[in-house]
Amino acid sequence: MADQHPVSPEGPISPTAPALRWEEPPEGPVLVLLDQTRLPAEEVDLVCTDVPALVEAIRSLAVRGAPLLGIAGAYGVALAAARGFDVDEAAESLAHARPTAVNLAYGVRRAAAAYQAAVRDDADEAQAAAAALAEARALHREDAEASDRMAAHGQALLEELLPAGGHRILTHCNTGALVSGGEGTALAVVKAVHRAGQLRRLWVDETRPLLQGARLTAYEAARAGMAYTLLADNAAGSLFAAGEVDAVLIGADRIAADGSVANKVGSYPLAVLARYHHVPFVVVAPTTTVDLATPDGAAIEVEQRSGHEVTHITIPYVPTVGHVAGTGVPVAPLGTQAHNPAFDVTPPELVTAIVTEQGVVSPVTADGIAELCARSRSGNGMLSE
Ligand code: MRU
Repeated sequence: MADQHPVSPEGPISPTAPALRWEEPPEGPVLVLLDQTRLPAEEVDLVCTDVPALVEAIRSLAVRGAPLLGIAGAYGVALAAARGFDVDEAAESLAHARPTAVNLAYGVRRAAAAYQAAVRDDADEAQAAAAALAEARALHREDAEASDRMAAHGQALLEELLPAGGHRILTHCNTGALVSGGEGTALAVVKAVHRAGQLRRLWVDETRPLLQGARLTAYEAARAGMAYTLLADNAAGSLFAAGEVDAVLIGADRIAADGSVANKVGSYPLAVLARYHHVPFVVVAPTTTVDLATPDGAAIEVEQRSGHEVTHITIPYVPTVGHVAGTGVPVAPLGTQAHNPAFDVTPPELVTAIVTEQGVVSPVTADGIAELCARSRSGNGMLSE
């Protein structure tokens, strides 16, 4: 089901809807997503009335980005409970819809635990469903607060690392309001720097193959009025060599106990470039993205996606073609095999700092990560373990 928001002839600049919202029309509760496969061409709602629809939205990247996946997973459990579906089955399918972003399973687990605790306390179905929804809302709120705190910590870190100001920041994928209950992770820091008048330029990697940078980060940067420039991913090297990048800021889908960072494929080569050119490489992520149960980078499961996304230019939605999964413009000979990992892993020694809502870890070590998590545990008692 899709509702379209009006857009200006120049295209949407300011979204009329948040990335995700819970609604309760007379026909029953729904989770409404801003369909990110249609941005920036159109702002279209995707209305999920059941968990299979939400799982498909997650797999097709209509809803995406680690923190937002956690929030969506939690609301998905609440949706199953409110509509009388099997909550355990719903939680299982949601938690495994995509494997790398640990926030997804974390959000699902929190809402499911709230539901089960209510059932154990003899709550009826409606009360247990309300408990799951309250937990999803709490996670949504906490993520917005974490976003504000990461922005403040990240801005302070940049002031320390780059005292001359006037930052030229390079980013990869999309880490803004489209992935968060608030302003995002790395892009929330960029927005704070911009508001402080300290952003000289945001370099936006297009982020092949699905172009989250070109479609989504450029969209958010334009809305925020930033000076931004889009580049093909493989143009980053010469930009570093020319001394045009002061810092790299990216998000994360999972941070292992040793500080290894899984993020959108193309992040690791940026870390190598940054190290070679003596440029700080900063990861911004909430502590819900830290997974102490994953010991190191080798243990992180990296999602492998369809080769079609590489053999074809598969902008998920092409207005002139329509929204048909698997369509796109072929760029390789028919039958070409493609390698399409959605993420790569950057080892901790290449990461200058990890910025979380609890503070900054630098240098990035297992002890530093453990201490941060202990701080977080004493804060809200929930961590992704
Ligand atoms: O495949 P996606 O678009 O879900 O990948 C998203 C990313 O890699 C983001 O950089 C990551 O989730 C961090 S967002 C705060």
